[in-house]
Amino acid sequence: MANIQELKEQFVQRFGTSTDDIQVFHAPGRVNLIGEHTDYNGGYVFPAALTFGTTLLVRKREDKGLGLASTNFAETKVLSIESVVYDEADDWMNYPKGIVNEIHQTGVIFSSGYDLLFHGEIPNGAGLSSSASIEVVTAFALLTLENQPLDTVKIALMSQKSENEFNGVQCGIMDQFAVANGKKDHAILLMCDTLEYDLVPFNSGDYKLVIGNTNKRRGLVDSAYNERRAQCEQAVQDLRADYPELTLLGQLNIEQFNASKHLIKDEVVLKRAQHVVEEIDRVLQSMTALKANDLVQFGQLMNGSHDSLRDLYEVTGHELDSLVAAARKVPGVLGARMTGAGFGGCTVSLVHEDSIEQFKEQVATEYTAETGLVADFYVCTIGNGVEQLK
Ligand code: GLA
Repeated sequence: MANIQELKEQFVQRFGTSTDDIQVFHAPGRVNLIGEHTDYNGGYVFPAALTFGTTLLVRKREDKGLGLASTNFAETKVLSIESVVYDEADDWMNYPKGIVNEIHQTGVIFSSGYDLLFHGEIPNGAGLSSSASIEVVTAFALLTLENQPLDTVKIALMSQKSENEFNGVQCGIMDQFAVANGKKDHAILLMCDTLEYDLVPFNSGDYKLVIGNTNKRRGLVDSAYNERRAQCEQAVQDLRADYPELTLLGQLNIEQFNASKHLIKDEVVLKRAQHVVEEIDRVLQSMTALKANDLVQFGQLMNGSHDSLRDLYEVTGHELDSLVAAARKVPGVLGARMTGAGFGGCTVSLVHEDSIEQFKEQVATEYTAETGLVADFYVCTIGNGVEQLK
């Protein structure tokens, strides 16, 4: 976690006056343990909040300005809080701007302007939800200062809407939900259709979750992501011949799907749909395995998830596949898979604590030999969702 006193001094350098009256908030990044590309299909996901994320320092202004700065970038900008518009040149600032816009749309009239200093600890483009973390921390902080109700499910929905509409990224609800509702040492079993959820204690005993960053930037991810969404919608349309009321693939179980999948004529669409239905089932099997403390079985399900994302959903790519293949060769690894949207970004592996040093060395060497890139590793502890730091 960042040194708050130092951040307050940086705030004063950017926005002036004294360190009094600055309030501090934090939202984590997230890692998804299993259930990938199921959220926008109304299925289950199983993410967890990380201990690192975005720290936000906020202070009211005398006027209706919106001051935006980040310790990760040199620029400081002051806009009007009363009229924010998307501007590509504003880059990451479009995330907090989108939230200001969304708060307006809920009918809140800001009582003043605000200065905001962000401190991001999530590597950019790593697929650990840095944008969701910025959105959720901004919404939580501004609603707190405006004395508005703090419903973290509504905050997640508002953040997703802002990412969809203001920033034009058609993401599902998983990232914003995990960042807003995570709990230390728990993963979240979330049904994305109804938003019912359970906080499941994640006791992995002598095994640790190790995140591996491919450091491959996720180029083209948005267009490929939207294409996958469209293919899932196509599958739903085809299956309506048997299920006229069907709106989301997640509404069918494996048996129902298998009995009707002949209706899907396009081979690629069929592969995509098969992944979604089986992946949702893997999440449910994971719950049974974890309840029985069967980490070996959970690891197998993680492997099954990756293989399906590689072969059926086709969102992995050489870097993620190489990192996962290298991870699985290390003794003491129960399972390894990609996490997040894919095409680059991160993997997550379940590794015995005595094997972690060997894991880092061996996987790093093999990954570089295979791809020419250098991987980073983070041994992950599960942290809390968004909160005010007092
Ligand atoms: C990205 C999206 C999520 C989800 C995952 C894939 O992280 O933001 O909504 O769809 O990809 O599971």
